[in-house]
Amino acid sequence: MKILRTVEQLREAVAEAKAAGRSIGLVPTMGALHDGHISLVRKARQQNDVVVTSIFVNPTQFNNPDDLRTYPRTEQADCALLEAESVDFAFVPSVEEIYPEPDTRVFDLGSVAEVMEGAMRPGHFNGVAQIVSKLFDWARPTRAYFGRKDIQQIAVIRRMAQIVGFDGTIVPCPIMREADGLAMSSRNTRLDAAARATAPAIYRALCAAVDSCTAGATPAQVKDTTVGALNAIDGLDVEYFEIVHPDTMQPVAAWHEAPEGAIGCITVFCGGVRLIDNISFPATPQS
Ligand code: PAF
Repeated sequence: MKILRTVEQLREAVAEAKAAGRSIGLVPTMGALHDGHISLVRKARQQNDVVVTSIFVNPTQFNNPDDLRTYPRTEQADCALLEAESVDFAFVPSVEEIYPEPDTRVFDLGSVAEVMEGAMRPGHFNGVAQIVSKLFDWARPTRAYFGRKDIQQIAVIRRMAQIVGFDGTIVPCPIMREADGLAMSSRNTRLDAAARATAPAIYRALCAAVDSCTAGATPAQVKDTTVGALNAIDGLDVEYFEIVHPDTMQPVAAWHEAPEGAIGCITVFCGGVRLIDNISFPATPQS
């Protein structure tokens, strides 16, 4: 595996691969890699001739300076993991390399970016669009891989891809979970022992939400019960739980508004750590 530090090195590596007719799989990450990221890398490895993984903690998508400062940075361990997965190129640039001058682009991301994470973290999705559009431009991937844990991010990236005329394929990949159901996330390392023990309640509540849907509860009822159950647990504080259409990310009032299955998206503070997760509801529930 080659570690590329500059945009020029990345462009050259990509140009060479493209000239040889090779497909390119891009896995954008912010490092602190876990099995969730590795599942994306493996999928990219299966489906492409050349795999590029970027490791870059993108400052423009953090609306909280403390969050940016304390975000885990584990470059050496990350590169060792990528090497073991036969990644061809790890793109590990500095902030100055990516943003030699401030990126002032404002993307018209529309309503997918206005709800949930977009409402709670102003500017976050514009920052994601800035970095991912740069990566798409430089790496020119045939396919780009994103985890469904950040399902709203995928909808936003699809919108950005339309805006910039990206002609590759965006490949959403399943959420990877710990044995107790907790969705894998780089932020899980910040949970203390008590919070780590409490956190799996989030996924249990999401599963219970699907059960109530199947049993005939309306989206509003499912929402109330889920939020109530989680807030009753010591150490948990639900920021939002929305039942939304999978493409538009807009809340649904009735299941038939999302005939292919709504998504329940949740953000919970667990021992002070902000965790996000989501679950798919069945395609044809009763109400
Ligand atoms: O999901 C992430 O890790 C980041 O938002 C991404 C897509 C790598 C952009 O910085």
